Amino acid sequence: MRAARAAPLLQLLLLLGPWLEAAGVAESPLPAVVLAILARNAEHSLPHYLGALERLDYPRARMALWCATDHNVDNTTEMLQEWLAAVGDDYAAVVWRPEGEPRFYPDEEGPKHWTKERHQFLMELKQEALTFARNWGADYILDHSVNSLGGCSPGRAGACDVPSSKFADTDNILTNNQTLRLLMGQGLPVVAPMLDSQTYYSNFWCGITPQGYYRRTAEYFPTKNRQRRGCFRVPMVHSTFLASLRAEGADQLAFYPPHPNYTWPFDDIIVFAYACQAAGVSVHVCNEHRYGYMNVPVKSHQGLEDERVNFIHLILEALVDGPRMQASAHVTRPSKRPSKIGFDEVFVISLARRPDRRERMLASLWEMEISGRVVDAVDGWMLNSSAIRNLGVDLLPGYQDPYSGRTLTKGEVGCFLSHYSIWEEVVARGLARVLVFEDDVRFESNFRGRLERLMEDVEAEKLSWDLIYLGRKQVNPEKETAVEGLPGLVVAGYSYWTLAYALRLAGARKLLASQPLRRMLPVDEFLPIMFDQHPNEQYKAHFWPRDLVAFSAQPLLAAPTHYAGDAEWLSDTETSSPWDDDSGRLISWSGSQKTLRSPRLDLTGSSGHSLQPQPRDEL
Ligand SMILES: *[C@@H]1O[C@H](CO)[C@@H](O)[C@H](O)[C@H]1NC(C)=O
Ligand SMILES: *[C@@H]1O[C@H](CO)[C@@H](O)[C@H](O)[C@H]1NC(C)=O
Ligand SMILES: *[C@@H]1O[C@H](CO)[C@@H](O)[C@H](O)[C@H]1NC(C)=O
Ligand SMILES: *[C@@H]1O[C@H](CO)[C@@H](O)[C@H](O)[C@H]1NC(C)=O
Repeated sequence: MRAARAAPLLQLLLLLGPWLEAAGVAESPLPAVVLAILARNAEHSLPHYLGALERLDYPRARMALWCATDHNVDNTTEMLQEWLAAVGDDYAAVVWRPEGEPRFYPDEEGPKHWTKERHQFLMELKQEALTFARNWGADYILDHSVNSLGGCSPGRAGACDVPSSKFADTDNILTNNQTLRLLMGQGLPVVAPMLDSQTYYSNFWCGITPQGYYRRTAEYFPTKNRQRRGCFRVPMVHSTFLASLRAEGADQLAFYPPHPNYTWPFDDIIVFAYACQAAGVSVHVCNEHRYGYMNVPVKSHQGLEDERVNFIHLILEALVDGPRMQASAHVTRPSKRPSKIGFDEVFVISLARRPDRRERMLASLWEMEISGRVVDAVDGWMLNSSAIRNLGVDLLPGYQDPYSGRTLTKGEVGCFLSHYSIWEEVVARGLARVLVFEDDVRFESNFRGRLERLMEDVEAEKLSWDLIYLGRKQVNPEKETAVEGLPGLVVAGYSYWTLAYALRLAGARKLLASQPLRRMLPVDEFLPIMFDQHPNEQYKAHFWPRDLVAFSAQPLLAAPTHYAGDAEWLSDTETSSPWDDDSGRLISWSGSQKTLRSPRLDLTGSSGHSLQPQPRDEL
């Protein structure tokens, strides 16, 4: 089903356009585009949405903005106004359609609820944009909504295929500045750039029932996960798509009123899909490139705060996977007020020679309004064996990596010393409880909210604890012991990694008292020894008492950004030389499987970090 390619001439012009123009060879032949911007209650995402629009690599003189906003309870109108005042003059034309009052639709359950009136109003607005585009003489219209429409978010599993299903708002951020050129280059009448989300949700359907409802198909997941790449004909695209106004049949396309024969659900995206079908206009989705992001919509009873939190998670995901989102500099954003969220210190261990990782961690914490303090990690590369011995470090007799059989590496020594220095600081300053992060943390959705809630519950239950893993690899598949009254926690069994954990003063004291530098093994093997869950009796015999009280968040709140075997994976502990080898050679311990994705984590999408898929996620 690979789509026909664009006429070679158009492709050539799109590619050469800027060059020809710069060289004074030809006038820019680029087509004229109307950007139809429909925004509602979008304050949380609007700065990033507008920032992405500003960065589109397309001459503004060839674009017109058609911008409507209505029924807002937040500052969407003011923000758009501010932005248009700053950049509007650069565009060929601007239509501004704000509607200040009312703020709600009748019968609305909340700002995320779609009523019939809202659907109709939206269809009429979109039709107006389409009519404007035709009258203005545009070649294309880019339908690109922010928090104003989306796919199904059914109340029950499995179902845009039930009449009661509701549609939901999404934020669409086009981080790829080539999006317009790439889509035009396909030469297709209606084409959507596939947008990535935190789950299986996206902006296209692969199947539709004869009644116009969502139909699950075998193609959906391979397409969403890019195991199948290209442009594919589909029955429906929504949220963000480019429609050619010159294509055959395009003059019959309409958002409103529905086609006279229309019997499908009264919903703008389905009405448009039907109009395409009736006019014989093909619809495609393209996924060869990463074009941008869309968030997973919140449910109709949820509010703007849920949406804001969800969008922050999307920003964090984009920080890891790239391309990043960048907010517009032309709008005033609510200021951030970072705090230590009830901890005495939030440590971020990071190697000075990995500034990109450090910067990403700080940016992520900033987005969540958590104030972290960077601690320079002890760099294994800088250590030689005499320096290591001078620090009083000696190897735990008989220690071998469980997978490769290698001994301790300098990277692991550095990592241990980094954590150790934090435990020392905790004890020296008498810090009651702290958070410790390494620099490759991928935060789960609503990390901050869930952590605060967990700590409140722990407090309320008067749980006695020394350490709580927030991210780790559970080594054994057996179910761990539940904690009474605390459904978000389990008693930690044998675990790997020291990615993210909460630590109490008493815990730090126990860790120091065991004098681990004199019998060192990797820090993530040391911790399970200290809470007496390590399987190796020989190692354990060196430490006493092994009475650390350790729990783990369940589900986990943090994961590694990448796993061994991922293209972007990089480990400073596993690409390192043995602790007593000063020859300077680096060895990549590819045999080590500690940092492989755990099968338990591998239930999710291509990067394996997101929420477990729910039936609704694909809709
Ligand atoms: C488009 O984005 C790429 C990658 O982020 C960047 O290198 C490039 O400079 C951008 N181009 C324009 C014209 O903004
Ligand atoms: C809108 O913005 C103003 C000024 O920036 C702020 O004082 C106000 O609280 C905002 N209103 C809402 C509903 O966010
Ligand atoms: C609409 O329905 C009528 C009556 O069934 C039929 O004759 C006509 O061809 C239909 N039009 C389209 C575009 O499907
Ligand atoms: C080992 O490192 C220390 C501290 O960086 C340095 O003073 C010493 O000269 C080094 N020793 C050797 C043998 O390279």
